Amino acid sequence: METVTTAVEARAIVKKWKNEGKTVGFVPTMGYLHEGHMSLVQKAAEQNEKVVLSIFVNPMQFSPNEDLDKYPRDFDADSKLCEDNGVDLIIYPDPKEMYPEGFCSFVDMTGPTRELCGKSRPIHFRGVCTVVTKLFNIVQPDRAYFGQKDAQQLSVIRRMVTDLNMPIEIVGCPIVREKDGLAKSSRNQYLSEEERKAALILSKSVFVGQELVKKGERNAKVVCDAIREIITSEPLAKIDYVEAVDFDTIEKIDKLQGTILVAIAVYIGSTRLIDNFIDTV
Ligand code: PAF
Repeated sequence: METVTTAVEARAIVKKWKNEGKTVGFVPTMGYLHEGHMSLVQKAAEQNEKVVLSIFVNPMQFSPNEDLDKYPRDFDADSKLCEDNGVDLIIYPDPKEMYPEGFCSFVDMTGPTRELCGKSRPIHFRGVCTVVTKLFNIVQPDRAYFGQKDAQQLSVIRRMVTDLNMPIEIVGCPIVREKDGLAKSSRNQYLSEEERKAALILSKSVFVGQELVKKGERNAKVVCDAIREIITSEPLAKIDYVEAVDFDTIEKIDKLQGTILVAIAVYIGSTRLIDNFIDTV
């Protein structure tokens, strides 16, 4: 496994692989890797001959009041996990490499970025789309892997790739959960012991909503109200949103039909966590 810090080095390595006829799978991350990321790496390794993973805590997708400075970082542990799981190349740039002096070009999107996390984090998806476009341009992978935990991000990236004719297959991978149900997230480490227990309310409520849909409930309000009621029973939890949307357009829906995303964002203390389920009904 190699680690590089510049776009030029990454390009040269990938170019050599491409000249040898090898396919390349790409997993963009912000580091502090866990089993969720490794499930993306494993999928990439199954489907491609080479796997590239980037580690870059992207300042552009954090608002000034968010957790950019305290976002967890542990390059040595990340590097070991990557080595153990068959990553061939880590790209580990610093912000000056990604956003050199004078940087002023952005990839912005309307539609699917308006609801859910786009409402409470207004600049977030512009930052995500810009950095992912840059990383795609650097790596030029055949396939790129995104977790369903960030379901809106997955939908946004699919839209971006279609709209901007990027020749990359976007592969979505299922949410990986702790044994007790909590969706794995680098932000879980912010939680105190008491908050960690309280955070279970997210998966608990999502599972109840999912079950209702499975049993035939098609009224979005009924499903979202059931989820809200459960979350409200936890004193440490504060709802940011509970919404049902069409997965492709991220538009709110009243009637559950087609491929639906029921997504929640909840503060546990000062930590904002997300969870969701997707179903085709
Ligand atoms: O999901 C993430 O970790 C980030 O949003 C991503 C896709 C790596 C872009 O910074």
